[in-house]
Amino acid sequence: MEAPLTHASPPGRAAVLAGLGTYVPPRVVTNEDLSLTMDTSDEWIRTRTGITQRHWADPGTATGDLAVAAGERALKSAGSDAVDLVVLATTTPDHPCPATAPEVASRLGLQNVAAYDIAAVCSGFVYGLASAAGAIAAGIAERVLVIGAETYSTILNPDDRTTSVIFGDGAGAVVLRAGDATEPGALLGHDLGSDGSLKDLIIVPGGGSRQRSAAAAPGAPEPDPADAYFSMQGKPVFRHAVTRMAASSQAMLDRAGWPAESVDWFVGHQANVRILHAVADQLGMPRDRTVVNLDRVGNTSAASIPLALSDAVAAGRITPGDRVLMSAFGGGVTWGSTALVWPDIDAN
Ligand code: COA
Repeated sequence: MEAPLTHASPPGRAAVLAGLGTYVPPRVVTNEDLSLTMDTSDEWIRTRTGITQRHWADPGTATGDLAVAAGERALKSAGSDAVDLVVLATTTPDHPCPATAPEVASRLGLQNVAAYDIAAVCSGFVYGLASAAGAIAAGIAERVLVIGAETYSTILNPDDRTTSVIFGDGAGAVVLRAGDATEPGALLGHDLGSDGSLKDLIIVPGGGSRQRSAAAAPGAPEPDPADAYFSMQGKPVFRHAVTRMAASSQAMLDRAGWPAESVDWFVGHQANVRILHAVADQLGMPRDRTVVNLDRVGNTSAASIPLALSDAVAAGRITPGDRVLMSAFGGGVTWGSTALVWPDIDAN
């Protein structure tokens, strides 16, 4: 007789949303504030992106600090601090080594749980959800804390107006628990993808093994200090973001068996309101079904989808029973989508 598989997932077992919590640092930086230090204007930023302000962490505050604050709220929202895995999606870890997740878990009192970081830039949260759902489906975990947290203010080049005006800091977290695929809150599948041939579109060129190794070669030129900062080719990123998020969203809708017109809320990665509207147009969804909070928080990368969810729940827009589609695009390049029927939870 064959031995049973250790991690066989019982039929119908799914990851179910049990809690949601978010945190943004208190310091608000308006478009007007930025126009005092760089050649930009409130009018340009608002009309090209939809952003009017963002939150930036004060010096001394790191991604892990925001992650702990959001994580605490998500655990409270779930009504239990029992989790056996912490997945932290971030582009701005506290250190290049080790991962930020173990320290965040420890500070949350989750001693000895499995904990790791995910690096998928602005797609990090949907990659994190898929990773956590996989662990639950495989029977590796019963309850998972998934956090998206960023302090982009630490990697923005103050001399680069094309990136500095776009990004904000913040964190959002959810608790996923093992449950049944037919319950409200069950993640109904995942569509994930990447195209690494486009890696230069969104990049921090320095600080990794490629530049360090090149710099160690005899006669190598000094690295450019600007290489320590985030850089982005806005126009092609815009184009790819629309195409990939629309295709990935459609793939997810097909998987869920949902016609586009049946979706109550499209919660896309909050990069640019024009991107969100273009994706809605391609899907054949009314634009007013698009959740938008980037006007107040900017692009918070891996934190953007949970921050948008929380904002829409707090505003009474997303309510229990609503069909919610989430989709993201980010550096790598990467993209991904998932969907769920909104459950009756207390979001914080
Ligand atoms: N303030 C004022 N002018 C600015 C500016 C700023 N902050 N940033 C750029 N400009 C200028 C440019 O220099 C350019 O001037 P020029 O015509 O004299 O050369 C002009 O505005 C247009 O720049 P362009 O880059 O063509 O603008 P755009 O319409 O493509 O908008 C982005 C730029 C970045 C807002 C847009 O491309 C975008 O949103 N891309 C996707 C970014 C994103 O969401 N990334 C994350 C996805 S994961």
